[in-house]
Amino acid sequence: MSGQRDSASEIREMFVKEPLANWNGAIMPLSEVRVSVLDRAFLFGDAIYEVIRIYNGKPFLFQEHVSRLEKSIEKMGLAANGQSIAARIQETISASDVESGIVYVQVTRGVAPRSHRYPDSLPKPNELIYVSEFNDPYLELRETGAAVIIQDDLRWKRCDLKSVNLLANCMAAQAAHEAGCADALFVNTAGELVEGSRTSLFGVRNGTILTAPLGKNILPGITRKLLMDLAEKSGVELREETLHSERLSEIDELFLTGTTTEILPITAVDDQPIGSGEVGPVVQRLLVAYKNRIAEFSAL
Ligand code: PDD
Repeated sequence: MSGQRDSASEIREMFVKEPLANWNGAIMPLSEVRVSVLDRAFLFGDAIYEVIRIYNGKPFLFQEHVSRLEKSIEKMGLAANGQSIAARIQETISASDVESGIVYVQVTRGVAPRSHRYPDSLPKPNELIYVSEFNDPYLELRETGAAVIIQDDLRWKRCDLKSVNLLANCMAAQAAHEAGCADALFVNTAGELVEGSRTSLFGVRNGTILTAPLGKNILPGITRKLLMDLAEKSGVELREETLHSERLSEIDELFLTGTTTEILPITAVDDQPIGSGEVGPVVQRLLVAYKNRIAEFSAL
């Protein structure tokens, strides 16, 4: 048995490179990072995070991610410094030889005896960065279009904060997986479709792209902002307007965006086709614009 396990893990190692971590400034394999169970992220989910895509060995939309990280640190009152984390991210990417991957960043309030209120003297935050290879799972679905389901938005009222409190997101993603779907769309009690479990949501109606305005109920997606720029450059009109679950029949095209998702066309919601049920012309144009943008960035 153990012989079998050894050879299986050897084979795994040959194909899946272990992510490289930066734990409070020290670079090490991810499996060597050790953290106390009294870390407030473990006990309370008291932490924030970022996910950044690496193309051609370089972090994409880096300043935008660092600036959102700094905002998260400030809004949560963490004793961390975004610029020093940014320098460590660059250092860790250089130390890894990852060409196409992701950077995961998490900053916790730190380790303290368990008590709901924040400790009087702020503990040293725990700062984790890891760089990992990424195999894009959506290559085929970007061509064919994907199906999603609708799930009640059970999340808290500060979804604009990129906190690690993602249980409702995980439950929705699991329900989508069990339904054989790529993602779940969150619907609020007013019937509005706010965003996906890990993605921003867009629709197209009569040639105009629609997406929910920023507020405390959605994450200010970095890819959402990029999409807005690409739409403008491509000459497609875009308006901030929330989509409604009961008016999906008026929508011609639907798509999701996110750092790892990039752009994903949605052709069915709860088994009902969207528009023609095929990947539509507006999203096709945006997919090309996105690809070109990455190619330009990679060539820099
Ligand atoms: N998810 N909405 C939610 C709820 C998200 O968790 C994410 C990102 C997005 C898209 O944001 P961005 O374009 O900045 O990636 C929207 C990340 C990738 C994750 O949790 O893995």
